[in-house]
Amino acid sequence: MKICRLSVMRMANYTDLSAQLENPMPHPCDLELGQVFYTRGRQPSGLCDSAWATLSPFVMALGNGATGLYDGWMKDPASAMVSCNDGFRPVSFLVEALDGPAIRPIQPEDIDQTGDVYCAAWQEAYPGMAGESDSAASSPERCRKIAREWPGEVFVAELGGKIVGFCRYGPSRDEDRKGFGEIYAIYLLKCAQGLGIGKRLLDAAFRELLPGPGVTVWVRKENRPAIGFYEHCGFRADGAEKTFCLGKEAAVRMVWHSREDLPWPI
Ligand SMILES: CC(C)(COP(=O)(O)OP(=O)(O)OC[C@H]1O[C@@H](n2cnc3c(N)ncnc32)[C@H](O)[C@@H]1OP(=O)(O)O)[C@@H](O)C(=O)NCCC(=O)NCCS
Repeated sequence: MKICRLSVMRMANYTDLSAQLENPMPHPCDLELGQVFYTRGRQPSGLCDSAWATLSPFVMALGNGATGLYDGWMKDPASAMVSCNDGFRPVSFLVEALDGPAIRPIQPEDIDQTGDVYCAAWQEAYPGMAGESDSAASSPERCRKIAREWPGEVFVAELGGKIVGFCRYGPSRDEDRKGFGEIYAIYLLKCAQGLGIGKRLLDAAFRELLPGPGVTVWVRKENRPAIGFYEHCGFRADGAEKTFCLGKEAAVRMVWHSREDLPWPI
């Protein structure tokens, strides 16, 4: 099934009708104008039941290849404009079936957008740390500057014309892992996680790093979801640990050893 993008295009609020007819509600709608969700058919996290109830049939149809709904309704035949079923504050979504993701080497014109993805994804992965950590991806400006100076190679994941994630890789920087490849970083926007894109980025880096004795990655100790992802992809902690930011933060090293029984085809 294709990935569909759900973009919040318009938000109405009929306050007169609410005042007349609605009981008070603490969080009637948490969506924001311009907010984007991606889905392969599951209700995306953060999208309310009301919206999903009306959007899901369109997602299923478009994601499975249907086009030209209602005899040429939309200019883009692989899209639909649908609103949620809240009559007091209807939200209009553009639903688009997307090709891809495309996994490709970064181009000079991608650098600023990739820096922005780094900033947003870092802050989503480590909420509350932007002000505390010296290694923080604290602002888009700082991240764009960092992205311009990144050592190693970078693959980006592009979905519907937007960069949603990246993977940086190169030779291992550890003396005791000479000859190994290393994943320096993988970051995806939260809204693009869980769709198989992280694994596609890892596959692309592996194709460049192998043959070789294996691939390493350093992961913050408290980043359990990322450790789970790497374990699922065949990495195992090798016992090496290090601290950074003057000893305030700790990371563990995970290693994937090349062998016959690869966890997925390369
Ligand atoms: C970690 C990250 C790169 C994973 O990418 P993703 O696109 O969300 O993961 P995928 O959808 O490609 O998952 C691939 C497989 O791993 C599995 N998986 C993902 N996270 C998992 C977890 N925490 N535990 C166990 N399995 C997991 C998936 O179920 C999937 O399995 P399948 O191929 O058998 O269906 C992404 O979530 C991310 O960017 N997180 C925030 C930034 C971060 O922490 N980066 C790592 C810094 S070192």
